[in-house]
Amino acid sequence: MAAASLVHSSLCRPSSFLHQQYHHHRFRTFALSIPFPSSGSPASLFSSLSSGSPQKKSRWAPVAAVLEVGGVKIVKEDVVREDDPTNNVPDTIFSKLGLQLHRRDNHPLGILKNAIYEYFDTNYSGKFVKFDNLSPIVSTKENFDDVLVPADHVSRSYNDTYYVNANTVLRCHTSAHQVELLRQGHNQFLVTGDVYRRDSIDATHYPVFHQMEGVRVFSPDEWQASGLDATSYAAMDLKKSLEGLACHLFGDVEMRWVDTYFPFTNPSFELEIYFQEKWMEVLGCGVTEQEILKRSDRMDNVAWAFGLGLERLAMVLFEIPDIRLFWSTDERFTSQFSEGQLGAKFKPFSKFPPCYKDVSFWISDSFTENNLCEVVRGIAGDLVEEVQLIDNFTNKKGMTSHCYRIAYRSTERSLTDEEINQLQWNVREAMQSKLNVVLR
Ligand code: DAH
Repeated sequence: MAAASLVHSSLCRPSSFLHQQYHHHRFRTFALSIPFPSSGSPASLFSSLSSGSPQKKSRWAPVAAVLEVGGVKIVKEDVVREDDPTNNVPDTIFSKLGLQLHRRDNHPLGILKNAIYEYFDTNYSGKFVKFDNLSPIVSTKENFDDVLVPADHVSRSYNDTYYVNANTVLRCHTSAHQVELLRQGHNQFLVTGDVYRRDSIDATHYPVFHQMEGVRVFSPDEWQASGLDATSYAAMDLKKSLEGLACHLFGDVEMRWVDTYFPFTNPSFELEIYFQEKWMEVLGCGVTEQEILKRSDRMDNVAWAFGLGLERLAMVLFEIPDIRLFWSTDERFTSQFSEGQLGAKFKPFSKFPPCYKDVSFWISDSFTENNLCEVVRGIAGDLVEEVQLIDNFTNKKGMTSHCYRIAYRSTERSLTDEEINQLQWNVREAMQSKLNVVLR
């Protein structure tokens, strides 16, 4: 059990300790290594970037096959390679690249990003440099090695991360940019971006979401003057800054610090606030591992870092009940938000009825829930609300059966029986052809 310490801030009330269940968090936990497909292809991602070769047309996604993010050209046929075993990026994910919801000032994610900017601008007289247009395609070195993610960490598996090839991924966190920016000499910076993770399906999980990373570097004269050691000084400054941020976003709330683990920081903490009658994690943070500074040629410095998920916070602040809504282009959603209006409460325009379909099958050794969810999303897209395991048994012969319940529900309209039956039929077909399972 992690220890929690209470916050004694002049802005916010101290709280009493409460136990809390922690939900799954990838950078906090370790798991056994999952073998990768052999790393046959070199990092050849950008080799054909300007070759102008003809693009395959997709029947499902009428998406531009070439796009640009922060000056980097992204070509669909380099990113989606069905015939390449080191690649697991589907069309549905490619179609999100370049949308950059966090750069829209009238979108809840853009409004939240700007509110955080405002906090740092006001309190650090504009010294934090902001990046929100860095390419989400990064090397495994940047995404994992540079931030000390262990070789056997679960986040490196093909089951959890989208690989473009063996050495290139869609970033799974904005921490992927820490070392590059430290190396460039930045001392205070914020990085906002879309991040990508293979995951299960429910109201709070979507394979693309948005994070903001913050880093502040100190030089020896700063902590020496304080009489504190470097780590204590950074931890103290970190806690003060982030408590201020939480108050800026949530008002006068109770807070507490929980000790935790991240590969990139030591010590590591989570900030929780007591909001709407429960403790809620706001962000992860800590004092940057000295090894990261060493790799950035910043041996003499000490630094702190934090990372937060924008959707998590925006869902609470704007009362948005389903993570799919962030992607909605329905005017009844988009018209409810405007620049600078943090916390305008979302008014659901209608709650359409869900439709549940069960599917039972014998699994194979390679079966994973994330793979199933990818197949379901590939067919039903945002019409799928939840995929839930409702039955699981192994028979005398050692065969394991799973039954999943798929909830279909649009956030925008009523679905017809006919449409849902067709989707379910297509899901069953795709499960058989792609997942190596036997339907029952
Ligand atoms: N990268 C972490 C994640 O995605 C979040 C995080 C935690 C970032 C602690 C940090 C940090 O910079 O210090 O879960």
